[in-house]
Amino acid sequence: EDILILLTCSWFIGYIFENMKIAILGNGGREHALAVNISKSSKVKKLYCLPGNAGTNLIAENVKLDFYDFDKLEKFVKENDISLVIVGPEKPLVEGVVDFLTNKGIKVFGPNKVSAQLEGSKIFTKKICEKYEIPTAQFGVFDSIEAANKYLEKANKPIVIKADGLAAGKGVYICEDTESAKNAVVEIFNGKFGKAEQVLVEEFLQGEEMSYFVISDGKTFKKFNTAQDHKRVGEGDNGKNTGGMGAYCPSGLINEELDAKIVEKIIKPTFKAINDMGAVYKGFLYVGLMIKNNNPYLVEYNVRMGDPECQTILPLLKSDLLELILSCCDENLENSIVEWEDKKSICVVLCSKGYPDKYKENVEISNLDQIVNDKNLFVYHAGTQLINNKVYSTGGRVLNFVGISDDLKVSRETVIKEIENLSWKNGFYRKDIGFRIIDKWELYQEISKEKNY
Ligand code: AMP
Ligand code: GLY
Repeated sequence: EDILILLTCSWFIGYIFENMKIAILGNGGREHALAVNISKSSKVKKLYCLPGNAGTNLIAENVKLDFYDFDKLEKFVKENDISLVIVGPEKPLVEGVVDFLTNKGIKVFGPNKVSAQLEGSKIFTKKICEKYEIPTAQFGVFDSIEAANKYLEKANKPIVIKADGLAAGKGVYICEDTESAKNAVVEIFNGKFGKAEQVLVEEFLQGEEMSYFVISDGKTFKKFNTAQDHKRVGEGDNGKNTGGMGAYCPSGLINEELDAKIVEKIIKPTFKAINDMGAVYKGFLYVGLMIKNNNPYLVEYNVRMGDPECQTILPLLKSDLLELILSCCDENLENSIVEWEDKKSICVVLCSKGYPDKYKENVEISNLDQIVNDKNLFVYHAGTQLINNKVYSTGGRVLNFVGISDDLKVSRETVIKEIENLSWKNGFYRKDIGFRIIDKWELYQEISKEKNY
């Protein structure tokens, strides 16, 4: 009889706690990485990806649904008994999806609309920096072309011109001279990145960039590792900006002293600013930093995981991601421990030829089933979709090849071998991801000169 009671109890506990239906919003490599991690949890009964890609299709049900139509999203969530929504990209966050779903009684992981302005408005963030004395580039905000031009005539060069709102990784101009700076201002006011009433002008910061992550429940936050991404399209970090051509984790720049400065001078005052506005910050926070002489300067905030940083960070997470996310939703993150494998990871992004400019879509990717797929070497999909059981490219960034080991150089070699094995004719990638800590900088200066990026 005791055994019967025990069995019933464990079934009941299992039913309550391991029966979750979860939806992830987004369709990039970041969302595939999140989906892989979440799907490993014993608590998950069913995972939906909205809309997902050919990779998430293997572990979740992809659902084509326009989640920017929040009413439609609510209906889908309620009809399917979904108990948690995880938001991948920034746009729905900035548009207030979290506030909307929360008001409807739906559990959702990600920052609310007030907090999401940290990414949604660069001027909002700069004003916080000013008020709370957060180290960042000196800046000016101008509300006309004339006012900006007057300032630009005298300002030191290079100088950085930014559109205020979301611009999908664009909207930032690094200008070597007054003329190009003035052109940037005109483009922004002419609405290249949406209606603009103001323009942000920033001092150019020297140094090396680092992406630093935290996860927060609104009361406490925990560090969520560091990474370094390569945003430029060309080897040696040359050429146009992209969404990210590759990344590695952890960043080679992090040390205890720097870590403490980032927390005390940047993150804590930012959360205080959000609290002073009567809001709390729940979700991932991506702190984009410039590091100079072991001092951090805030370049930007993103209110989500990075892409491709997420694809290098999550594979090293030892703790249960779903538990961490749920403890954030329930505001008891304080009792959780975030543990990491003592390893390094690297991600190389295979892109469509022509990216970040024009590229062909719907090109078939065959041979994917012949690619190694184990604990230390695997692929996250990004711009892919499945049509009649075949995988086709649908975006600029197509596949993320990830390698994990103690040695970034070895991992990079194995990852590159895999990309070569796939031999996708419409693809290109950077062979030098991680060069700042793997290779000699000078060598890549030579390569970039030769290739004339
Ligand atoms: P953001 O979208 O603000 O992150 O800017 C995109 C990229 O432009 C950053 O990752 C940096 O590489 C560069 N950048 C932005 N602001 C500055 C700055 N003030 N000084 C130097 N580089 C910058
Ligand atoms: N890797 C840059 C970003 O996610 O914004």
